[in-house]
Amino acid sequence: MRMTVIGCGYLGAVHAASMAELGHDVVGIDVDEAKIAALASGLPPFFEPGLPELLDRALATGRLRFTTDYAEARGNAVHFVAVGTPQQPGALAADLKYVHAAADALAPVLTPGDLVVGKSTVPVGTARALAARLEGTGAVVAWNPEFLREGFAIEDTLHPDRLVYGLPDEPDSRDLVRATLDEVYAATIADGTPVVATDLETAELVKSAANAFLATKISFINAMAEVCEAAGADVTQLADAIGHDARIGRRFLNAGLGFGGGCLPKDIRAFMARAGELGADQALTFLREVDQINMRRRSRAVDLAREALGGSVLGRKIAVLGLAFKPDSDDVRDSPALNVAAQLALQGASVLCHDPRAIENSRRRFPELSYVATIAEAVRDADAVMVLTEWNDYRELDPVLLAEQVAQPIVIDGRNCLDSAAWRAAGWRYRALGRPREA
Ligand code: UGA
Repeated sequence: MRMTVIGCGYLGAVHAASMAELGHDVVGIDVDEAKIAALASGLPPFFEPGLPELLDRALATGRLRFTTDYAEARGNAVHFVAVGTPQQPGALAADLKYVHAAADALAPVLTPGDLVVGKSTVPVGTARALAARLEGTGAVVAWNPEFLREGFAIEDTLHPDRLVYGLPDEPDSRDLVRATLDEVYAATIADGTPVVATDLETAELVKSAANAFLATKISFINAMAEVCEAAGADVTQLADAIGHDARIGRRFLNAGLGFGGGCLPKDIRAFMARAGELGADQALTFLREVDQINMRRRSRAVDLAREALGGSVLGRKIAVLGLAFKPDSDDVRDSPALNVAAQLALQGASVLCHDPRAIENSRRRFPELSYVATIAEAVRDADAVMVLTEWNDYRELDPVLLAEQVAQPIVIDGRNCLDSAAWRAAGWRYRALGRPREA
């Protein structure tokens, strides 16, 4: 099948390469010439495990190409819209300007019967508005939200937990669109992936609800961490114990610095804003609390450092290990780790930051912070070491060897990812979010 993927950022680039992997002929379109040039030469402009190999394979078959020219979408049966929907500056709501620009650029090349399939995370009602915007082209609009996680993007695209189709209302059109999407995903469906076919609004809401639930789960356990800190209890054991209940489940119950990235924070805010527009704001006021619990964890990590260093970080040397919003990513959008590093620097600490992948992106955001290329440089003579992203590089650190390199063996585990007993046995004062002070 011949298809277009509009927007070659994280979502679009992975989707385009994955569709080519499934055997389709794909053209990826983006207005950013540098991004298109990089992708066309097989080099994604961001880090995602396995993507360079997937791109290489797809480009070599000739089934995948990238362009800035919308004319190349002409004649394709399916056009995926995978552009960004960032938070509006100074507001909670999502900014739909890229969705609108993509639709307007696509409209002149659409032919009657073409299928425009939204993948971006959007406020409910966007699909129907887009259909109205494209009226006159003869194209049909469907919504097929994406649930991929950074770091697992290819696996999540090729083998998702489920496929969700938001279909148009007219029965004939609905059957046709369903059949087309089944053909797009034939290989995935053959693997046993369930399909949930529904209307446009429900499909849009499924995505908002899924991210709101995940964010709530993380903030729930971080709220428990706050209580554990006050009571001298251990949130990691609490999470293990409640997670044994299959109705709760252990996944996404990792207490620590909380959620960041380009999705969960902005998506719960956009969801609240949209519910407000619809007159249902009361239904989602709890998400404000979810957001606040999440942001409090960052300040608490800074407080832990201050407490461990005797009341002030001024002039103290702190090694920050980890800047990305999660491991296996170079993404620092709304990164809790980078935020903590910046707060410490603002309070007068001398902060040396390390990350296996995210230094370049961090430097672009916070050029005033100091970055080093190796863990050894970061920790040399440090008064405290803070692990803020749970990269394997940090989990595997040898606390005995590291203790010899620092000025004081104080470690703050912002992600509850270190073996506390091993670090304590090696002479470290170990502090973590939601854990008792002593073993
Ligand atoms: C999230 C969702 O998990 C995806 O399903 C969704 O498709 C995506 O947003 C999106 O809307 O595009 P992602 O942002 O890549 O994916 O990362 P997550 O794995 O969800 O992690 C988000 C944040 O939560 C990270 O900062 C992570 O460190 C934090 N987190 C996650 C915790 O603090 N505790 C946990 O137990 C799990």
